[in-house]
Amino acid sequence: MKILIADKFPKHWVEVLKEKGHEIILNPALDENTLPEAQKTEQAEIIIVRSTKVNASAIDAAPSLKLVIRAGAGYDTIDINHAKTKGVAVCNCPGTNSIAVAELAMGLILSLDRRIPDNIIDLKAGKWNKTEYSKAKGLYGRTLGIIGLGHIGREVAKRAQAFGLKIIAFDPFVKESPLAQMVSDVYDLAKKADIITIHVPNTAGTKHFYDEKFFEAMKPGAYFINTSRGGLVKEDALIKACAEKGIRAALDVYEKEPKADAKEFVDPVTSAVNIYGTHHIGASTEQAQDAVAEVAVQIVQELADKGTFLH
Ligand code: MLT
Repeated sequence: MKILIADKFPKHWVEVLKEKGHEIILNPALDENTLPEAQKTEQAEIIIVRSTKVNASAIDAAPSLKLVIRAGAGYDTIDINHAKTKGVAVCNCPGTNSIAVAELAMGLILSLDRRIPDNIIDLKAGKWNKTEYSKAKGLYGRTLGIIGLGHIGREVAKRAQAFGLKIIAFDPFVKESPLAQMVSDVYDLAKKADIITIHVPNTAGTKHFYDEKFFEAMKPGAYFINTSRGGLVKEDALIKACAEKGIRAALDVYEKEPKADAKEFVDPVTSAVNIYGTHHIGASTEQAQDAVAEVAVQIVQELADKGTFLH
């Protein structure tokens, strides 16, 4: 099959696809604006993307298109409604990068509590500020609120158990779990938790859900971690809550993210007081990218072998 890969993809798995007889066009430089033209030229049957958005024009660019694979968990970057009307299947690779995202979430929780990034910055600037950094609360016995107990939320819960955190969770689709005490109201969770981490998809129903009302419900001084999607959070409300209520946040994702490396990236939320930011790296481990690519290749092969896509 002819496959256009519009993002970086592990070399080994590109070779596997070639060995299976597929024709691969690898163009990681493509973005939302250039993908439609590239697809018009290439007439691929499958498009594989990680960060590159697939809009209606990319879907319409070639009648050959049968399948779009999102090499990750979220598929909010694909115009799935348009794909549906055009009979183009869309697949994601859920579960494949959950451990990587959960590991980052734990890292961010520890970073917030011990202020690890500030410690490092001060030492690099030649300052010894032990008094300032001796105020961590510690994690043991504190309450972690997990919103979204899917693949990633469950991996976070398992790791948090080892830290002795008391775990409560909210998930509209999960009534009981051996990993957490479920609560039936998200604002109830916000009131009870010392640390909140969100693991939910970005949909029309969840966009900007984390707003003034949510941050108002949180305990003063509590931590808020978002490794899911920037669009879930009303960033100006978070900035205000962090500045005025002593909430501390760690974000891996932002409402506006550059696709490629950018020499300048100035965003009010990443430069705000009491907010740490990382570069949307939750899924960016070798292990996770290998697992994602393996599943993407399996999906390709299923289509190639059956000639149809039945999921
Ligand atoms: C995901 O949706 O799984 C991640 O955001 C993927 C990524 O960063 O590549």
